[in-house]
Amino acid sequence: MTYECILVETIGKVGLVRLNRPQVLNALNDQLMTELGQALSGFDADDNIGAMVVTGSDKAFAAGADIAAMANYSYMDVYKGEYITRNWETIKSVRKPVIAAVRGFALGGGCELAMMCDFIICADTAKFGQPEIKLGIIPGAGGTQRLPRAVSKAKAMDLCLTGRMMDAAEAERAGLVSRVVPADRCLDEALEAATVIAAYSIPSVMMAKESVNRAFEGPLSEGMLFERRMFHSLFATEDQKEGMAAFVGKRKPEFKNK
Ligand code: CAA
Repeated sequence: MTYECILVETIGKVGLVRLNRPQVLNALNDQLMTELGQALSGFDADDNIGAMVVTGSDKAFAAGADIAAMANYSYMDVYKGEYITRNWETIKSVRKPVIAAVRGFALGGGCELAMMCDFIICADTAKFGQPEIKLGIIPGAGGTQRLPRAVSKAKAMDLCLTGRMMDAAEAERAGLVSRVVPADRCLDEALEAATVIAAYSIPSVMMAKESVNRAFEGPLSEGMLFERRMFHSLFATEDQKEGMAAFVGKRKPEFKNK
């Protein structure tokens, strides 16, 4: 598959997607989001891939939805066509882990895209924000919904209402990102984390992801039950037998993803 707005490569069992519209700081237009969805879905279906990383450039993960592309839309354009965020949820249907490696700006839709990934590893240069208020709009792809769950109501209100940016240290304190590393380490750190994940049994990795996501949708009792059922079901896999036998036998496990 050839893409115009992203660069795609495979590193061992990790699929890497680089957002690639440098002239506009990786502003997210319809084509880029379609291509990103296609690339991640392709990796998801590939038995040789166990995890994915999405990254941007040194200057910007993504500076938001493409403002020039949407500036002249009418209400009916965006409502009827579900424009701007129509194809964004494809990323949420990806079942293997997706890590966002964020350097520089992750603003508006860029911050929302990072939050759609399973976790964020960021550079000390990262800047997060939901500046839509400055454009006379509000976030349209989860900024008002995922951000309060990721940080807190107070911090999400602050960012969505003032439009200010949050640096990497503040993002880590708030719980938005899992790790902050020097900028030149960011992509390698994410690739190494993805490589670690991809070496585990893929069914257990997928079920861990599904179970953690349950914590954000529905009551605790339902999430606990879901987790327990997933946990029980893994005892039907060969990899559970192998993983535990290897531990008891003091050797490295050889997972077959079965
Ligand atoms: N859309 C389209 N083009 C963008 C863009 C965006 N979101 N962000 C930056 N660009 C373009 C600029 O227009 C500029 O293009 P030209 O060279 O042709 O002038 C180029 O990228 C470089 O940008 P700047 O010159 O502005 O770079 P800077 O370093 O001075 O500032 C910035 C960087 C603070 C990120 C600034 O570009 C900025 O504020 N960008 C917009 C951020 C924003 O408002 N994002 C939210 C978009 S709305 C949204 O995302 C809705 C949603 O929820 C889905």
